[in-house]
Amino acid sequence: MTARSPRTLSDINALSAEAFELHFAGVLEHSPRYARVVAQARPFASAEAVARAFATAFDTGSQEEQVALIRAHPDLAGKAALAGELTSESASEQASAGLDRLTPAEYEEFHALNAAYHERFGLPYVVCVRENTKASIFEGARRRLANTPEQERAAALHEIGRIARLRVLDLIQGDER
Ligand code: GUN
Repeated sequence: MTARSPRTLSDINALSAEAFELHFAGVLEHSPRYARVVAQARPFASAEAVARAFATAFDTGSQEEQVALIRAHPDLAGKAALAGELTSESASEQASAGLDRLTPAEYEEFHALNAAYHERFGLPYVVCVRENTKASIFEGARRRLANTPEQERAAALHEIGRIARLRVLDLIQGDER
Protein backbone atom coordinates (compact mmCIF):
# COMPACT_ATOMS: atom_id res chain seq x y z
CA MET A 1 0.00 0.00 0.00
CA THR A 2 1.47 3.35 -1.00
CA ALA A 3 0.94 6.36 1.22
CA ARG A 4 -2.18 8.37 0.33
CA SER A 5 -2.61 12.14 0.54
CA PRO A 6 -4.69 13.39 3.47
CA ARG A 7 -8.26 14.55 2.78
CA THR A 8 -10.61 16.79 4.72
CA LEU A 9 -13.16 15.20 7.05
CA SER A 10 -16.03 16.59 4.96
CA ASP A 11 -14.54 14.93 1.84
CA ILE A 12 -14.17 11.69 3.77
CA ASN A 13 -17.77 11.80 4.97
CA ALA A 14 -18.93 12.27 1.35
CA LEU A 15 -16.79 9.59 -0.36
CA SER A 16 -18.35 6.50 -1.90
CA ALA A 17 -17.92 3.41 0.29
CA GLU A 18 -15.36 2.08 -2.22
CA ALA A 19 -13.31 5.28 -2.19
CA PHE A 20 -13.46 5.40 1.62
CA GLU A 21 -12.24 1.81 1.79
CA LEU A 22 -9.36 2.63 -0.56
CA HIS A 23 -8.38 5.75 1.39
CA PHE A 24 -8.20 3.91 4.72
CA ALA A 25 -7.18 0.46 3.42
CA GLY A 26 -3.75 0.66 5.08
CA VAL A 27 -4.92 1.68 8.57
CA LEU A 28 -4.93 -1.91 9.82
CA GLU A 29 -1.94 -3.86 8.51
CA HIS A 30 -2.87 -6.09 5.52
CA SER A 31 -6.51 -5.92 6.69
CA PRO A 32 -8.41 -3.55 4.35
CA ARG A 33 -11.78 -5.16 5.07
CA TYR A 34 -12.13 -3.21 8.35
CA ALA A 35 -12.28 0.05 6.38
CA ARG A 36 -15.46 -1.24 4.72
CA VAL A 37 -17.09 -1.70 8.14
CA VAL A 38 -15.93 1.72 9.36
CA ALA A 39 -17.33 3.40 6.19
CA GLN A 40 -20.82 2.38 7.37
CA ALA A 41 -20.42 4.33 10.63
CA ARG A 42 -20.25 7.72 8.84
CA PRO A 43 -20.64 10.63 9.22
CA PHE A 44 -17.74 11.22 11.61
CA ALA A 45 -17.41 14.41 13.67
CA SER A 46 -13.62 14.17 14.07
CA ALA A 47 -10.56 12.21 13.02
CA GLU A 48 -10.42 10.80 16.57
CA ALA A 49 -13.92 9.39 16.00
CA VAL A 50 -12.69 7.67 12.81
CA ALA A 51 -9.81 6.16 14.80
CA ARG A 52 -12.21 4.97 17.52
CA ALA A 53 -14.41 3.34 14.86
CA PHE A 54 -11.44 1.24 13.68
CA ALA A 55 -10.76 0.16 17.28
CA THR A 56 -14.43 -0.74 17.77
CA ALA A 57 -14.40 -2.73 14.50
CA PHE A 58 -11.63 -5.06 15.70
CA ASP A 59 -12.57 -5.00 19.42
CA THR A 60 -15.97 -6.44 18.53
CA GLY A 61 -14.51 -9.20 16.32
CA SER A 62 -14.16 -12.83 17.40
CA GLN A 63 -10.96 -13.98 19.10
CA GLU A 64 -10.02 -15.76 15.84
CA GLU A 65 -10.37 -12.52 13.89
CA GLN A 66 -8.34 -10.65 16.50
CA VAL A 67 -5.53 -13.21 16.35
CA ALA A 68 -5.58 -13.01 12.51
CA LEU A 69 -5.25 -9.22 12.75
CA ILE A 70 -2.27 -9.48 15.12
CA ARG A 71 -0.67 -12.09 12.83
CA ALA A 72 -1.06 -9.77 9.82
CA HIS A 73 1.79 -7.68 11.30
CA PRO A 74 5.33 -8.34 10.11
CA ASP A 75 8.09 -8.90 12.64
CA LEU A 76 9.84 -5.67 13.54
CA ALA A 77 13.31 -5.65 11.94
CA GLY A 78 12.37 -9.07 10.55
CA LYS A 79 12.77 -10.93 7.26
CA ALA A 80 10.17 -8.85 5.39
CA ALA A 81 11.96 -5.67 6.47
CA LEU A 82 15.32 -6.98 5.31
CA ALA A 83 13.77 -8.07 1.99
CA GLY A 84 12.12 -4.67 1.42
CA GLU A 85 8.66 -6.28 1.49
CA LEU A 86 6.96 -4.08 4.11
CA THR A 87 3.87 -1.94 3.54
CA SER A 88 4.90 1.72 3.20
CA GLU A 89 3.26 2.43 6.59
CA SER A 90 5.23 -0.28 8.38
CA ALA A 91 8.48 0.69 6.64
CA SER A 92 8.25 4.35 7.68
CA GLU A 93 7.15 3.45 11.23
CA GLN A 94 10.05 1.06 11.68
CA ALA A 95 12.47 3.63 10.25
CA SER A 96 11.14 6.29 12.69
CA ALA A 97 12.64 4.36 15.62
CA GLY A 98 15.78 3.33 13.73
CA LEU A 99 14.72 -0.32 13.45
CA ASP A 100 15.88 -0.28 9.80
CA ARG A 101 19.44 0.45 10.84
CA LEU A 102 20.24 -1.67 13.90
CA THR A 103 23.82 -2.64 14.60
CA PRO A 104 24.65 -6.32 14.02
CA ALA A 105 24.54 -6.90 17.81
CA GLU A 106 21.14 -5.18 18.07
CA TYR A 107 19.79 -7.26 15.15
CA GLU A 108 20.96 -10.40 16.87
CA GLU A 109 19.32 -9.47 20.16
CA PHE A 110 16.09 -8.38 18.49
CA HIS A 111 15.87 -11.55 16.40
CA ALA A 112 16.31 -13.60 19.58
CA LEU A 113 13.52 -11.58 21.27
CA ASN A 114 11.22 -12.00 18.24
CA ALA A 115 11.90 -15.74 18.20
CA ALA A 116 11.24 -16.11 21.94
CA TYR A 117 8.05 -14.09 21.56
CA HIS A 118 6.81 -16.26 18.65
CA GLU A 119 7.69 -19.38 20.60
CA ARG A 120 5.74 -18.26 23.67
CA PHE A 121 2.68 -16.65 22.05
CA GLY A 122 2.56 -17.82 18.42
CA LEU A 123 2.24 -14.15 17.44
CA PRO A 124 4.48 -11.34 16.16
CA TYR A 125 5.50 -8.74 18.76
CA VAL A 126 3.40 -5.67 17.92
CA VAL A 127 4.07 -2.27 19.45
CA CYS A 128 3.18 1.25 18.30
CA VAL A 129 6.68 2.08 17.09
CA ARG A 130 5.96 5.80 16.59
CA GLU A 131 5.12 6.19 20.29
CA ASN A 132 8.33 4.46 21.35
CA THR A 133 12.10 4.62 21.04
CA LYS A 134 14.42 1.84 20.01
CA ALA A 135 15.27 1.33 23.70
CA SER A 136 11.63 1.15 24.85
CA ILE A 137 10.76 -1.24 21.96
CA PHE A 138 13.52 -3.63 23.11
CA GLU A 139 12.50 -3.20 26.76
CA GLY A 140 8.84 -3.84 25.89
CA ALA A 141 9.68 -7.10 24.14
CA ARG A 142 11.57 -8.35 27.22
CA ARG A 143 8.84 -7.22 29.62
CA ARG A 144 5.90 -8.54 27.60
CA LEU A 145 7.43 -12.03 27.40
CA ALA A 146 6.29 -12.38 31.05
CA ASN A 147 2.63 -11.76 30.13
CA THR A 148 0.01 -14.50 29.94
CA PRO A 149 -1.30 -15.21 26.41
CA GLU A 150 -4.57 -13.43 27.31
CA GLN A 151 -2.75 -10.34 28.60
CA GLU A 152 -0.56 -10.37 25.53
CA ARG A 153 -3.45 -10.52 23.07
CA ALA A 154 -4.97 -7.53 24.86
CA ALA A 155 -1.63 -5.67 24.81
CA ALA A 156 -1.17 -6.33 21.08
CA LEU A 157 -4.71 -5.12 20.29
CA HIS A 158 -4.14 -1.99 22.38
CA GLU A 159 -0.97 -1.26 20.39
CA ILE A 160 -2.79 -1.92 17.09
CA GLY A 161 -5.35 0.71 18.15
CA ARG A 162 -2.52 3.20 18.77
CA ILE A 163 -0.89 2.36 15.38
CA ALA A 164 -4.26 2.71 13.62
CA ARG A 165 -4.97 6.05 15.30
CA LEU A 166 -1.73 7.60 14.03
CA ARG A 167 -2.33 6.19 10.53
CA VAL A 168 -5.87 7.65 10.54
CA LEU A 169 -4.57 11.07 11.67
CA ASP A 170 -2.06 10.98 8.77
CA LEU A 171 -4.97 10.48 6.35
CA ILE A 172 -7.13 13.40 7.57
CA GLN A 173 -6.23 17.02 7.01
CA GLY A 174 -5.00 18.77 10.15
CA ASP A 175 -7.61 21.30 11.21
CA GLU A 176 -10.44 18.77 11.39
CA ARG A 177 -8.80 16.28 13.71
N1 GUN B 1 4.25 -1.39 15.03
C1 GUN B 1 4.06 -0.47 14.08
N2 GUN B 1 4.09 -1.02 12.89
C2 GUN B 1 4.34 -2.33 13.09
C3 GUN B 1 4.52 -3.42 12.23
O1 GUN B 1 4.43 -3.30 11.01
N3 GUN B 1 4.79 -4.63 12.79
C4 GUN B 1 4.87 -4.80 14.13
N4 GUN B 1 5.16 -6.01 14.58
N5 GUN B 1 4.69 -3.79 14.98
C5 GUN B 1 4.44 -2.59 14.44
